[in-house]
Formats: sequence, C-alpha cells, structure tokens
Amino acid sequence: MKKVKHGGNIYEIAEKLGIQKEEIIDFSANINPLGVPINFKKALIENIDRIENYPDPEYNGLIQAIAKEHHINREYITVGNGATEVIFSMIASLKPKKSMILAPTFGEYERALMRAGSQVEYFHLKEENDFQVDDDILKTIDESFDLVILCNPNNPTSQMVENKRLIKILKHCEKNHVHLMMDEAFIDFVDEPTKETMLPYIMNYHNLIIVKALTKFYALPGLRIGYGITSNVRLLERVNDHKEPWTINSYAAMAGMVFKDKIYREKSREWITSERKDFFDELKKINKIKVYKPNGNYILFKLLEERKDLREVLLKKKILIRSCSNYKNLDESFYRIAIKDKGLNKLFAKALKEVLYES
Ligand SMILES: Cc1ncc(COP(=O)(O)O)c(C=O)c1O
Repeated sequence: MKKVKHGGNIYEIAEKLGIQKEEIIDFSANINPLGVPINFKKALIENIDRIENYPDPEYNGLIQAIAKEHHINREYITVGNGATEVIFSMIASLKPKKSMILAPTFGEYERALMRAGSQVEYFHLKEENDFQVDDDILKTIDESFDLVILCNPNNPTSQMVENKRLIKILKHCEKNHVHLMMDEAFIDFVDEPTKETMLPYIMNYHNLIIVKALTKFYALPGLRIGYGITSNVRLLERVNDHKEPWTINSYAAMAGMVFKDKIYREKSREWITSERKDFFDELKKINKIKVYKPNGNYILFKLLEERKDLREVLLKKKILIRSCSNYKNLDESFYRIAIKDKGLNKLFAKALKEVLYES
C-alpha cells in the first residue's frame, strides 16, 4: 500500500532547496495562522514533567472535556493520535466489505479501506458542478455498501454538503444498513459550524460516526490529537480493544483545555470570516485561474492555461502550495492553498500574478 503525499512537507522542500524550513511560506497545510492558543502553550511548558509518567490509559480528563464541549455522553467518544488514527481504527473495526468515498477527497480513507480489505467505490464529483455532492449520491448508495465516508467541508475542494441533503443521506444510509462516517476535521472554520455539524444526530443514528480533529482549528498538527464520536457503543468497544495503549502522549492528553479558550475561538472566527472573503475576492480577479468558492480555511483553484508546474515556479519564491495532481478525479491543473493572515494572503496573490503574467 503506497504512502499518500500530503501538504506540509516543509522538511523535504527545505532540504531540496538547501534552505531553512522557516524560510518557506507554507500554503500547502491548512492550519489556523493564529498558532497554538497561548494558554495551552503555557500549560505545555509548565507541565514538562508530565513526560516522566505514562499518560492515563483511559484518557478520562480528555474525554470528559470533549463530552462537555459537545454535550454528549462520554461513552460515545474515542480519542486518537490525530483524526488519522481514529479513521484507521474505526475502519479496521468496522471491517467494511464495500465502501464509498468521494473523488476527490482526503487520501487516507482509501488507504485505511484498502488496509481493511474493503472494496472501494468512488462517487465522482463533477467539475462542471463545482465539485458539489448532489442527490445522485442517493441513487448510488444501496444495501451492497457497508460504509460511506463524507468529508465536510471536503478536502481539497472546500465544498460543503448542504445540511438538508446530509440528513437525507444519513436516513438513506440507515434504511440500507450502511454506516456513514462524517469527517468534520475542518468544520470549525465554516460560517456556521453548529448548523452544519451532524452531532445532533449522534444519539438517534447508530450508523453515524463523526471524526473530528483539533489539528486544524487549534493549530496543533505536531501534537497529534483527534477524536471519534458514535452512539454505536459496540463499535467503540471494538475500536478501544483493538487500539495499542498510549497512542496519545501526555501533552496531547491535555488538549481538552483548548475548548475553554473563548477568546482564541472568537479571534479565529473573525479572522476566517474576513480573510476567506477577501482572499477569494482577490484571487477571483485573476483571469488565468478558476477559483472555487471556499467554505473551509483553504481554497481550490484551477490553472486555466497550459504552463509548467505552478508549484515548482512558486517554490522559487519560497512559497509552497499543494498540487492536487495525486487526488483521484483531479489533475495537475488543480492546486489547493491555505487561507493565512492578511499580509501573507496578499503576498501570495501578488506572487501568483507575477508568475502568471510576467513570464
Ligand atoms: C479531511 C482530513 N481529515 C483528517 C485529517 C488528519 O488530521 P490529523 O492531523 O488530526 O490526523 C486531515 C489532514 O490533512 C484531513 O485533511
């Protein structure tokens, strides 16, 4: 099974260019530019001695904090070394024979499914439909499937599945005895996360599994912490029985603290609301690219003219972007960029115009 190439590999690029990784402006990984919430950072530093003990193998404090944050039963939660571990362990425990994923979408679902021996079918999102999930998905899902995975907003398209349609899909899956896994790793960035999340359906739909990450919104990709929620407690028992002990380290186990940081959350919401619009408006003016209206903290665009690799050209300016050529159903004309702070977004738009118009 081949490794999937992701954004954010500044180590490889720095080595290739012979520069320090700090010199690279990384638009390839979609992380909140406000950085780690300051109170959490302080707590990590003050608690350095925690590495002298094993973390609580049950992660009670962390699970309690997640349960409180989402007003759900703690029995419905499992935690993982990033959302990635949750995705892999849920799929390993579900053992689906036949599964459906979007094309394009986050590459690790396919890997996890292949590892579990699942047949994988793709729901091809249409370019002419701006990569939206439409009602055709309902016609495609039938009893022959065991699992459908949706990513909301989807990576790399930054498109949402409309809430009404999601509920239809959930009910349709239940009727057909199909599990629905919703990856909400980026949902905190959308306009109205509480309206879009499927959390309210957890109690009544045992076929629903929600995966969440602290990685993106709280800028903690190096800490490795994510969690899964389902009211299918038998599945959770299998997940927890199957898991290696202590995959979450003592620092990641403290991450429940971030939920308390209301100021960080407000500032993050202010930043994403204004920068998503401004950056999109700025990029839309560039007639050599087509920009897809974003819902998350990243933007998909298509280069409309044939030219050499835009990623390579921008790297000469020490700007790293994500080529989408390795996503199923996309090709080398598609790129994904993170939304960063105003100054960097402006710098990016200027650099892009330079490489598109000055050569
Ligand atoms: C949609 C999606 N889900 C999950 C993940 C993995 O998140 P984590 O770093 O918490 O494992 C990513 C990482 O890029 C992602 O794009």
